[in-house]
Amino acid sequence: MNSSRIQKIASLITKDNIVIDIGTDHAYLPIYLITKLGFNKIIATDISQNVLKQAIANIQKYHLEGKIKIYCTDGLKNINEKYDTIVIAGMGTNTIKNILSNGSLCKEIILQSNNELPNLRLFMQDFGYKIIKEEVVLEKGKYYVIIKYHEGKEKLSYEDIYFGKHRNKEYLTYLFNKKSKEYSLNKRNDLKIYLEKLERFIEKIPD
Ligand SMILES: C[S@@+](CC[C@H](N)C(=O)[O-])C[C@H]1O[C@@H](n2cnc3c(N)ncnc32)[C@H](O)[C@@H]1O
Repeated sequence: MNSSRIQKIASLITKDNIVIDIGTDHAYLPIYLITKLGFNKIIATDISQNVLKQAIANIQKYHLEGKIKIYCTDGLKNINEKYDTIVIAGMGTNTIKNILSNGSLCKEIILQSNNELPNLRLFMQDFGYKIIKEEVVLEKGKYYVIIKYHEGKEKLSYEDIYFGKHRNKEYLTYLFNKKSKEYSLNKRNDLKIYLEKLERFIEKIPD
């Protein structure tokens, strides 16, 4: 497993917490947490029985059957175990919102959504979680934003919601160029305001 995205997600999890990795796929994150970072117990779930066959094979390869508990389920449903950190990565914001709305939550949540980040940030604010840290990773030419949450209240600004708290200048410049193209095709006023604010925001970030 050589994914800087997975490694960054792992680095944001509070050490020794019991983690539930939802949508574990190949179980790369649980295996990395145990073999490289010394975590002791991980719960790994996926909605697909088929996908879990590969996860189980990987877990067996590393002899981690005693440390990684597998469930085939939708999100957090039917999980009657204690956990300290929920990780949901590689899914869309709507799926993430559905999963979090239908399960028992905990103090720490780490999210990596593939789309609609402003929507996710607003949802989490309303849900009673505050951003502890945001990180951006570039992997195979694609940017990923990873957000660490703890239970708590906060009032996000326009910039927090639309640009994030990470201050990654390269990613924000990429966003600016993407939105500029959108604006050249569709001269919406909200896009104009977004671009003006983003330009000022980027200027203030030191190189
Ligand atoms: C793109 S993969 C991401 C895998 C891994 N989390 C990562 O970040 O590399 C998405 C995984 O989530 C699973 N999944 C999708 N919806 C789910 C749900 N509601 N509950 C649990 N797993 C789900 C899929 O079966 C798939 O294995």
